[in-house]
Amino acid sequence: MLTNRPTYQVSRRASYLERSVLRGLLKHAVDPSLISLAGGLPADEDLPTEQLNQCMNIVLKRDGAAALQYSPAYAALHEWIADYMLRRNIACSPENIFITNGNQQGLSILSRLFLDEGKTAVIEEAVFTGTQQGTKGVGANVVTIPTDLAHGADVHHLETVLEQHDVKLMALIPDFHNPLGVSMTENNRRRVAELAARYHVPVLEDDAYSQLRFTGRILPPIRAFDTSGYVFYLGSFSKMLAPGLRLGFMVIPESLQPKITVIRESIDLETSTLMQRTVAEFLHRGYLEPHIEKLRQSLKIRAEALMTALDKHLSDIATWTVPEGGLFTWCVLPENVDTWQLFDEALDAGVVYIPGGAFSVNGGHKNTMRLNFSRVAPETFDEGIKRLSAVIRKAL
Ligand SMILES: Cc1ncc(COP(=O)(O)O)c(C=O)c1O
Repeated sequence: MLTNRPTYQVSRRASYLERSVLRGLLKHAVDPSLISLAGGLPADEDLPTEQLNQCMNIVLKRDGAAALQYSPAYAALHEWIADYMLRRNIACSPENIFITNGNQQGLSILSRLFLDEGKTAVIEEAVFTGTQQGTKGVGANVVTIPTDLAHGADVHHLETVLEQHDVKLMALIPDFHNPLGVSMTENNRRRVAELAARYHVPVLEDDAYSQLRFTGRILPPIRAFDTSGYVFYLGSFSKMLAPGLRLGFMVIPESLQPKITVIRESIDLETSTLMQRTVAEFLHRGYLEPHIEKLRQSLKIRAEALMTALDKHLSDIATWTVPEGGLFTWCVLPENVDTWQLFDEALDAGVVYIPGGAFSVNGGHKNTMRLNFSRVAPETFDEGIKRLSAVIRKAL
């Protein structure tokens, strides 16, 4: 038992970081007694549990201790990813693939690589808290750009910021933005690649969701338009396979490999050997495409059920983005509604969402909320939105 309470002096870097509201709300997002529109996770039944079990067993039997040791890069995984990138019009070789524990780690590594305290990073005004943590976490001065609810990040505004500031890094989510659910147009992706080349500013292209498209055609990544080497593509198996694998990758130039490797080593030595081999087995067996196809169908049905429920219960007072993929829709309520204030009441009514303000870099977005459609059973949305509508109407 300690006799005195210690007074710890934490670093300035630690003080830059704020706990992500999303992580704090995770317990509600997975509470089966609630209708949860708060999560960012796949439904349990949409995870390929059996196939991963099979692949892990094969790996352990075949590779034995090698699957459980520290290990050099696992070539089979690098090769599969490089080939997958080629199919997405990204010219690269296995040597350009850097394995991470997911896109959050990629954001953190590249922020450390390109940003110093007080240097400027451009991010979107309402954005995934991990993007904020990555950039603000190294003490960067964050300048924001708005995101158009139809076309994604405002590229015109981005150009103005690049003209006026000495920007060291920009981070964008071109596909099925978290939290807004919107994607950037192909033309705007091309323009971002051009701006990166003109201003010599690295772009972190955070692609967690592009494969989850259930309407229309998958768009080329920004990196596909890159001729200058300033676009850094970050890909993740979290949403297309399973978040608990903690497996992602970056496409990086070989010249930066040594620096990126040493930053990574300073955080954690490497990604789980067992997971890399298990996922490589999954990929080489051809399990990914059928799995994603099933997942897309599941998301489509759920998204449609949510849209129907919103039309029925909220169309007179709210607007929302109509998702073509991904996991989220962004709902805008009348100006006088504060979704933080309504949160507890909604919780009492058995329904949870994420208040839009949780994603806001500069404050604001109080009358908005992010609704997730990947976990709730399709037939449950109607009841969830009905309850939410009742809570909101009391506050009008
Ligand atoms: C835009 C975005 N980037 C990154 C992540 C984190 O991804 P990972 O699990 O690959 O670290 C998320 C998770 O929700 C996300 O929405």
